[in-house]
Amino acid sequence: MTQIIKGHIIYTESPESLTIVENGYLIFEKDQIVGVTDQLPEIYQSLDVEDLGDVLIVPGFYDLHTHGGQYPQCGIGMSHHLLDWLKDYTYELERKFEEPAFAKRVYAFFAEALISYGTLGAAVFGTSSFMGTQILFDTFIDKGLRGYIGKVCMTRNAPDFIIKDMATNIEDMHRLVERYKDQERVKLIVTPRFAPTSTHESLEALGQLSKEHDLPVQSHLDETVDEIKWVHSLYGSESYASLYDQHGLYGQRPTLMAHGIYLDEEEMTLTQKRGVMLVHCPDSNLNIASGIMPVRKYMNQGILVGLGTDIAGGHRISMAEATVRCVQLSKQLSVEKPEYQPLLFSEAYHMATAVGGSFFGRVGKLKAGFKMDCLVIDDLPLYKELYSVADRLEKFVYTGDDRWIIRRYIDGQRL
Ligand code: GUN
Ligand code: FE
Repeated sequence: MTQIIKGHIIYTESPESLTIVENGYLIFEKDQIVGVTDQLPEIYQSLDVEDLGDVLIVPGFYDLHTHGGQYPQCGIGMSHHLLDWLKDYTYELERKFEEPAFAKRVYAFFAEALISYGTLGAAVFGTSSFMGTQILFDTFIDKGLRGYIGKVCMTRNAPDFIIKDMATNIEDMHRLVERYKDQERVKLIVTPRFAPTSTHESLEALGQLSKEHDLPVQSHLDETVDEIKWVHSLYGSESYASLYDQHGLYGQRPTLMAHGIYLDEEEMTLTQKRGVMLVHCPDSNLNIASGIMPVRKYMNQGILVGLGTDIAGGHRISMAEATVRCVQLSKQLSVEKPEYQPLLFSEAYHMATAVGGSFFGRVGKLKAGFKMDCLVIDDLPLYKELYSVADRLEKFVYTGDDRWIIRRYIDGQRL
């Protein structure tokens, strides 16, 4: 069955500018967009058009790095540096996910918040709990979200109550593969927490598992100076990225690496060559005082850069906020380093929608052949009067909130 909605359609075909079809028709069949036009083609003229009026029809947001198991921790312990913050707050919270009732409650709250802020897909760290991760999966399936869900694997350098031995981690992963292998929208992703809580053996086992089941990979990389020193003291002098690479966890399958603030030349070359996507988490960069990712420098080297909230390193679940902070940080960095041109709004918005969506397949653009995922934004009458469609989108991203989002579609179905 063909359906048609009408409004001002906006997305980014490429980062430099917004593609806009004013008073456009978005035509879709089941889960697929089949056309976006300003004139309704002859063959569709007998069909009903749902005219939504003076609204913006835009892609969903896709969060490429977030911790579902840390959602209650947003805005807590923000005076700490990363390693103390993990020790004093995060691990204590994550242990609670062994309790199914707790996991259900938190993950439902997390998934509802994603949807309400227009995040239609996310790459998520659960916790080390098998049961908790299963509940996270089931919650995403139940809510209809797109997701890559990771059981966080840790074998050392964290409290005993949260680490699992390698055999248990691998067995848990096999059970998750088996249980969710037929899911289309919600998939398993191999998730070593980061190098310091792993060993050569555990990284190798996870690399093998990724290869065996053709699973994508996510982890943390080069987030803080102290963390990098720790990695060198644990593993010797090889680079952090090459450590993952050596174990088949660096682009051999689709790979997301959160933060990547301090890549050296060799790591940059490897990252570009392997097509690893770095995930910039601007609020987290600020809260954890980890440093500011030089996004422009990486882009100039042909490295893929997506965007994430890093809940609870980032304190806000809204990808609109992450988009704003991404622009703000790039401007700030350009003051110190004029060679790094600040990001345009369209570039940051492209990261939050089209780049993020690309990790999920043909997702994140409003054009024929893409999945019918979108948001409908109804802004205030005053702004409709005063501003262009492009300005109204920027206004929504900078100042809007969940109340401005009046519809959410995933795979052509309204949530
Ligand atoms: N590095 C290892 N674990 C974490 C985490 O939970 N959050 C952040 N921001 N960095 C990490
Ligand atoms: Fe993180």
